Amino acid sequence: MKNAFNLDPELIYVNHAAVAPWPVRTAEAVRQFANENAQVGSRHYLQWLETEQHLKRSLASLINAKSADEIALLKNTSEGLSIIAKGINFKAGDNIVISNQEFPSNFIVWDALRSQGIELRIANISDTDDPEQAIIDLMDDRTILLSISAVQYASGLRMDLVKLGAACKANNALYCVDAIQQIGAIEFDTQAIDADFVVADGHKWMLGPEGLAMFYCKKASMEKLQLQQFGWHMVEDLSDFSAMTNWQAASSARRFECGTQNMLSVHALNASISLLLEQGMNNIEKSILNNVQTLINLFQALPSVSILSPITTDRHAGIFTFNKNGVDNQKLYEYLVSKGVVCAPRGGGIRFSPHFYNEAAQFQQLASWVEGFHQGTSD
Ligand SMILES: Cc1ncc(COP(=O)(O)O)c(C=O)c1O
Repeated sequence: MKNAFNLDPELIYVNHAAVAPWPVRTAEAVRQFANENAQVGSRHYLQWLETEQHLKRSLASLINAKSADEIALLKNTSEGLSIIAKGINFKAGDNIVISNQEFPSNFIVWDALRSQGIELRIANISDTDDPEQAIIDLMDDRTILLSISAVQYASGLRMDLVKLGAACKANNALYCVDAIQQIGAIEFDTQAIDADFVVADGHKWMLGPEGLAMFYCKKASMEKLQLQQFGWHMVEDLSDFSAMTNWQAASSARRFECGTQNMLSVHALNASISLLLEQGMNNIEKSILNNVQTLINLFQALPSVSILSPITTDRHAGIFTFNKNGVDNQKLYEYLVSKGVVCAPRGGGIRFSPHFYNEAAQFQQLASWVEGFHQGTSD
């Protein structure tokens, strides 16, 4: 497992909720693709297409989709959410439900619909022991869509996606999950939660490059999205350029891919996902939960540290956020950065987000640096 990464040993990399480092095999896939392009260009284009299909099959398997035909490759999560927002035929008076902890991408896109008379209902999931119920309480017969992060980016709160899926069904609402903070960290079962749409960029827990995202659309929900982007690649028969006047949108999720794919990132993400599947998502999930539990145990024992993320196993994924009373958060963050810690200031504290391969000794080191840091001291 150690050989899977080639990280600078001076670093403690606990920033997978932001941007992950690439596994060795991913960097190698990019190098090989660069060499191939330099030497023979696109001579083996059919092989590239096979890699693209392989990636879609791997992603389908990673999230337990029924078929790779339900997976499209887009450039990021925000693009996927925008395709949904613009694709649904909302009418004035309809409402959309989200939570108050969403990343901007899962707020702005819905907020932008308000000018069309669509109501945005924001559930307060911060001050309750039952965040799902706070969401469900806002749903009614005019609720067209629930859009929710599987794991909240700042607090790290993990949602009960099965319960929310059942509520969507009961209310006849569409169900969109921004799963960027879960897929690759914690097992994700699209069929069990019965989502209509799942979006997730590949550069966090999936260990891929920036600029390539997975967009899942349930087969039965495909027609519920009016198409927003058009081009040669989204038609059913893309081999026949002369049949242009007679085009039909692809019956698969390829209908959401308007043009040429980001083949470089396809090769990279394909390599990254192969590592996740080889390790097994159940093993990865266990390691991540164990790593966060280690952080919880260590930091609970530190005086003046408050843990801001949930501490029960079913309520967190890979995100651990804390602050230290009486200490300027930004200064503590800069101190940790100066020590080679790659982390992020988020949610009024500092966010650590270890992956499966981080080691217990690193968490000990983090705890001792945080314990030893006092305002105005540099060590
Ligand atoms: C919950 C969530 N959604 C979306 C994003 C990023 O969106 P995009 O892939 O469009 O950059 C992030 C990034 O931090 C996130 O935490």
